[in-house]
Amino acid sequence: MRDILEELEQRRAVARLGGGEKRIDAQHARGKLTARERIEVLLDEGSFEEFDMFVEHRATDFGMGETKYPGDGVVTGWGTVNGRTIYLFAKDFTVFGGSLSETHAQKILKVQDMALRNRAPIIGLFDAGGARIQEGVAALGGYGEVFQRNVLASGVIPQISVIMGPCAGGDVYSPAMTDFIFMVRDTSYMFVTGPDVVKTVTNETVTAEELGGASIHTTKSSIADGGYDDDVTALLEMRRLIDFLPAHNKADVPELSVYDEPDRIDLSLDTLIPDNPNKPYDIKELILKTVDEGDFFEIQEAYAKNIVVGFGRMEGRTVGIVANQPMVLAGVLDSDASRKAARFVRFCDCFGIPLITFVDVPGFLPGTAQEYGGLIKHGAKLLFAYAEATVPKVTLITRKAYGGAYDVMASKHLRGDLNYAWPTAEIAVMGAKGAVEILYRSELGDPARIAARTKEYEARFANPFVAAERGYIDEVIMPHSTRRRICRGLRMLRNKHLENPWKKHDNIPL
Ligand code: HXC
Repeated sequence: MRDILEELEQRRAVARLGGGEKRIDAQHARGKLTARERIEVLLDEGSFEEFDMFVEHRATDFGMGETKYPGDGVVTGWGTVNGRTIYLFAKDFTVFGGSLSETHAQKILKVQDMALRNRAPIIGLFDAGGARIQEGVAALGGYGEVFQRNVLASGVIPQISVIMGPCAGGDVYSPAMTDFIFMVRDTSYMFVTGPDVVKTVTNETVTAEELGGASIHTTKSSIADGGYDDDVTALLEMRRLIDFLPAHNKADVPELSVYDEPDRIDLSLDTLIPDNPNKPYDIKELILKTVDEGDFFEIQEAYAKNIVVGFGRMEGRTVGIVANQPMVLAGVLDSDASRKAARFVRFCDCFGIPLITFVDVPGFLPGTAQEYGGLIKHGAKLLFAYAEATVPKVTLITRKAYGGAYDVMASKHLRGDLNYAWPTAEIAVMGAKGAVEILYRSELGDPARIAARTKEYEARFANPFVAAERGYIDEVIMPHSTRRRICRGLRMLRNKHLENPWKKHDNIPL
C-alpha cells in the first residue's frame, strides 16, 4: 500500500513540474508565474481541486511518442474565490508552449461542460501558442469544440479570459468569445498570426508588442477589457471582478456586506456641474460618490474614454454603470463609445445586473470619419442593447441630453424604469447655438437678435421641466440625494418582471 501511495506522490511531483525546471526558470525569467502558481494566487488558499493531472497526449508523429508530459500543457479543475465556486483552466507554457493537443482539448472541454452543467463562472488563464502543430487536424478539431462550448455557455455563465503570455490562433479566438479579456502588460500578446508570419505575408516589420501587446488591445483594438502590470495584480483583480458577478443567468446578483449607508447624502455633488455649460467635469466623481464605498471596477478604462462603464454596488448588490464622460470629447457618442457601452449593457442584461445610466451627452459625433466608419450601425448597437434590456434601469440626466443620444441613453422611451434629472439637466433636440442657427438662418447677420433667440431657446429647453411635464422624467432630484434616490429606486425594482416577445434570438446590428 505504502508503495502505491509513494508512487502517487511521485507521479504528482512529476506532473507538477510541467515542462521541467529549466523551462520553469525561463518562465520566471520572463516575469511570468507558472500555471500552478497562478492558480494559487487566483483561488482561495487550499481550495483547488485538480482534474486530469495524468492525462498525456497520444500523438506519435514528429517523434512525439517519446516526448510526453503528464497534464499535457494545461492545468484544469475548480476551486473557490471568496467562497464561491469557479471552474478554471491554466495553460502551461512550459509544455509545448501551452499548445492544444486533442487530449489537452478534452481536459478543457471537461471543465467547460462541468461549469455549464453546474452553473458557475469559468476562467481561462492563457499563455499558449494555439493548436499543437504536430497534431494537425486533431488539434484544430479540439479547438473547434472549445469554441462551440464558449458559444453555448455565452449568456448562461460568466466566462473570463486572462492573457498571461504570448497567445496565438485558438488561444486568442477562444478568449474572443468570452465575456471579458484581461492582459498583463509587457509579457502578454494576442495575435491571430505572430510577427514572423506577418513579415512573410505582408513584409511588414512589427514587434510582438506593437502587433498585439496590452498597450494595443486596451487602447486601439478594444479586444482587451483591461491591462495589469504583472501576473499577481491581474489575478487579484480577477478575484475582485468575480465578487461582482452572479454565478449564472438565473442566479441573483451577489450581495456583500457593506458599511456605506444607503441614505448617505453628498453635498459636494450640488456643485459638481460647472456654471459654464461648456466646461467639463469628471463623471467618475459622481460614480465614486454614488456607489458603495467608492468601489468601482471599470471595464475598458483606456478605450473610448468618452464613455465610462463598469461594476459597482448599491446596498451591497452589484450594479452596472454606464456614464458619458464630459472630460473626453465632451462625452459625445461615437462608434467606439457606442460599441463599448452596448457590449457592457448586454452583459449586464444577460446576467440580471441592474443598470444605472448617468447622462451628459451632446449627441452623436458628426463627420465623415464617423459616418464612413459606420456610426449609424454602431450607434444602433447601443440603442438596441438598451431597448432589449429587461433588467432594472435607472437613469439620471445630470446636464446635456441632446438629440438621438437622449433617446439612446436609457430614456423613458426605451423602458427606463426610473428616469431622474438634476435641476441642471438640458433636454433638447440640440444645443441652443445649433438650434438657433437652423431655425433663424435669415437673422444670422444680426448678432443682437440671435443672442435674444438663443436666450429664448435656452429658457424653453435648457432645463428638465419640459420633459418632466410630460412624464419622460419621473422626478427632478437634488444632486446631493442621488445615492439615496437610486438605492431606494433599485430596492423598489428588485422584483421587476419584464419579458420580451419570444424569439430564437434577436438580430442586433453587428
Ligand atoms: C507546438 C509549440 C507551439 C504550437 C509554441 N510551441 N507554439 N509547439 N505547437 N502551436 C513550442 C515551441 O516549439 C517551443 O518548444 C515552446 O513552445 C516555446 O515556444 P517559443 O517559440 O520558443 O516561444 P516564444 O518565442 O515566446 O513564442 C511564442 C509564440 C510562438 C508566439 C506562441 O511559439 C508561436 O508563434 N507559435 C506558433 C503559433 C501558431 O501559429 N499556432 C497555431 C495557430 S492555429 P521548446 O521545445 O523549444 O520549448 C490555431 C488554430 C485554431 O490555433 C483555430 C483558430 C480559429
